Amino acid sequence: MKSFSQNSENGKKVFIQTYGCQMNEYDTDKMFEVLRHENYFHTDSHEDADLIILNTCSIREKAEHKVYSELGRLRDLKTANPELKIGIGGCVAQQEGEAILRRDSNVDFVFGTDNLFELPRMLRKIYKGEKISNIQRYDRKRVRNFIPEYTFQKIQHSRIRSHLTITKGCNNYCSFCIVPNTRGLEVSREPDQIIAEAERLVSTGTREICLLGQNVNSYIANGVDFVELLHLLDKLEGLQRLRFTSPHPKDFNEKLADAIVSLPTLCEHLHLPLQSGSDRILRRMRRWYTMETYFQKISMLRERIPEFSLSTDIIVGFPGETDEEFEMTIEGIRKIRFDLIYSFKYSPRPGTKAADYPGHLSESVKSERLKILLETQEKIVSERFQALVGTEQEVLIEGTHHRKKNTVTGRTRGNHPVSIKNSTKKAGDLMIVLITKANKNSLEGVPSSVIQSLGTKSLA
Ligand code: 5AD
Ligand code: SF4
Repeated sequence: MKSFSQNSENGKKVFIQTYGCQMNEYDTDKMFEVLRHENYFHTDSHEDADLIILNTCSIREKAEHKVYSELGRLRDLKTANPELKIGIGGCVAQQEGEAILRRDSNVDFVFGTDNLFELPRMLRKIYKGEKISNIQRYDRKRVRNFIPEYTFQKIQHSRIRSHLTITKGCNNYCSFCIVPNTRGLEVSREPDQIIAEAERLVSTGTREICLLGQNVNSYIANGVDFVELLHLLDKLEGLQRLRFTSPHPKDFNEKLADAIVSLPTLCEHLHLPLQSGSDRILRRMRRWYTMETYFQKISMLRERIPEFSLSTDIIVGFPGETDEEFEMTIEGIRKIRFDLIYSFKYSPRPGTKAADYPGHLSESVKSERLKILLETQEKIVSERFQALVGTEQEVLIEGTHHRKKNTVTGRTRGNHPVSIKNSTKKAGDLMIVLITKANKNSLEGVPSSVIQSLGTKSLA
């Protein structure tokens, strides 16, 4: 965060390593805001830091392992600088608590997903030589302002695309998922506070906001539901684009589809996690929709905007998944034709229902299925991207290309990354781009002579 790297002469330096999802990225930003008030300044290097925080993820076993191997690397730094303080936050911290302190004596403090705003108090204690594990959960009110206002009132410069958390936690207990254990039950933030944070982000440079929550479309606070919240945010002066992630297919309805199609800021892109194409597996995952109802829901969008862009999450190798059931997932993605798939091998998480299911598959079966899924999807993406060549797209510019001269980069409303040659546009500008080439995961284009916006909505 830019505002954070001011003169650091009188303060301490903090390095935060973020793992996992966008919610963790958002939490890291909030940690920076909190620490700035304590006279800590951001550094990009471990070696330079007085304080290192690992904001951890436990969604899959691999993510959890990364934390422990990183802690191994930090050992030498602590030996070289015994004054260095090391803290572990996020989902692994929430689950493991004190066990982390016992496992690694270099760790000074552990804090849970509800406790990041208590960092100042924790730091005062650790500087007195205490070791701390603080993973306390708070009163579970259904609606609560779980982010202190001072953190977003002090935002000075923000990103062109910013995240904004509207709910945290989850009540769904999908059988594979650890999140209800690590993030707790669902809490919605009050709409007034969300609007105030959005206003602050826009006034400090943000042009696109992505609303975050484990299950955003079950948001409800003070009589305002998710669609009403979208209507309120859509009116915000200066906000160009609004997105959200992730909605749950079981709560996706016509009212939400109408809002996506009709509200000008809402983009023609949706991330809707499918997880599997087999109804039996979906039932065992406790997802509460079928392939048919999922298809009906996305049809509400594609029937009105045929080029509507879709992305999803897929898990392969769920316990008991047969070859035929895996084949149903492949057929499903061929039918739907997603623009992007985040695909994962099933990873058993202790304490979840599916971890105790029979029929766990071998690593080699999971790897083989993942490979088939990736190959199938690669072909679909290539066709979807190729179909955009020759079209004109509205692109929100995010900055200059890290290698290529006179080239800027940005995203279409469909969330496809684009690089544009010969453009003098600046971060935050909107421009119409003629797409000239499709690469494996991105598009290339040139400034179009068309002046008026040709977002797909205006064409529909
Ligand atoms: N194993 C594999 N993937 C998982 N996900 C969540 N839990 C697991 C797990 N135990 C995936 C789901 C979810 C995404 C964020 O991570 O696809 O949508
Ligand atoms: Fe996990 Fe399911 Fe909740 Fe998503 S909806 S966070 S997958 S339990």
